[in-house]
Amino acid sequence: METTRLEPFIIDTFKELHSCPELSYEEFGTTAKIKSILQKENIEVLDLPLKTGLVAKIGNEESPVVALRADIDALPIDEETNLPYASKTPGKMHACGHDFHTAALLGAALSLKSTEDKLKGGVLLVFQPAEEDAGGALKIVGTNALKDAKVIYGLHTSPLYPVGTLGISPGPVMAAVDRFTVTFVGKGCHAAHPDEGADVIPLVSEFVLALQTIVSRNSNPFAANLVSVTKVSAGNTWNVLPETAEIEGTVRTLTIEDRKMIKSRFYALAEGLAAAFGAKVKIDWWDGPPPTINDVLWTNFVEHIAEKEGFIVEAATPSLGGEDFSEYQAKIPGVYIKVGTGETYPHHTSKFVADPAALLPAANLLAHLARETLRGIK
Ligand code: NI
Repeated sequence: METTRLEPFIIDTFKELHSCPELSYEEFGTTAKIKSILQKENIEVLDLPLKTGLVAKIGNEESPVVALRADIDALPIDEETNLPYASKTPGKMHACGHDFHTAALLGAALSLKSTEDKLKGGVLLVFQPAEEDAGGALKIVGTNALKDAKVIYGLHTSPLYPVGTLGISPGPVMAAVDRFTVTFVGKGCHAAHPDEGADVIPLVSEFVLALQTIVSRNSNPFAANLVSVTKVSAGNTWNVLPETAEIEGTVRTLTIEDRKMIKSRFYALAEGLAAAFGAKVKIDWWDGPPPTINDVLWTNFVEHIAEKEGFIVEAATPSLGGEDFSEYQAKIPGVYIKVGTGETYPHHTSKFVADPAALLPAANLLAHLARETLRGIK
């Protein structure tokens, strides 16, 4: 595609994607659209066992390979932006800018395809499903399609920066996301005879407060960690002490060491307090994606290329939000780049918008990163 037609094409594609959001693992229409755009440009779509999402390839198979990743799914939110291209589906919205990522990567694909003969290797284009459900990256990793990739780049919209600014930092930029449910089982009894039971209400209260000492007493004071209890439930009336109490919540950490330390302190407190109160405890723990940690050398390289492309580069504002881009980084070095899409409402809210003016520069950045990376590695 000619360069002059690229920007209107990316913007139109973005608006179309925005108006037709699909939730994690339901991105059938989105996948079909991506596929038809790629195939129209004679870009090879790999034959992989994926229900939604896809991986495509440009360039030479025998040479080094670089991967570019976009996520494609939307969220169960009712859009309230009043945009002319707002979601046509009530209750679903691209409220995290994954439509932007998809359109920018398609733009990069078309740009790379038009200069394919000059590429010094292969470029894998990853259109990943289900980032919000935090399982999509593992589906792609499981296909083994990225086995030859030497480095992977991914970008994400950011409402914290104006268009033209990028947030890039080496090291941890997004958190590991773990989730827990804890059930204490004591002995229910009449509220007037607590001595005949084992009351779980003071137990769960102590536990919720004790959990906060993990961050304040066991973590290095310079580390960013958190434990949030998001649900507490026990009892159903005023004159009966309940048998069980349950809490639910999440742990966020930026390093593997802190992740291990918090889990072990968490179990020690739950088991120790339960024993002290004469109760039993059952802990359910789900390990989510690891922290997103940018490779130091490749981050320097990205900063250099971004500045050459005319971006203002700032240190990325770290977040304890999660991002399954880290599942790729667990296998290959990678850099996760925050792209300024205009200072506006936060991600995952009904008023989040991404300024389409940021699309072409983002697409050019991805294409340029792929070209220059291939020039630099053997
Ligand atoms: Ni997102």
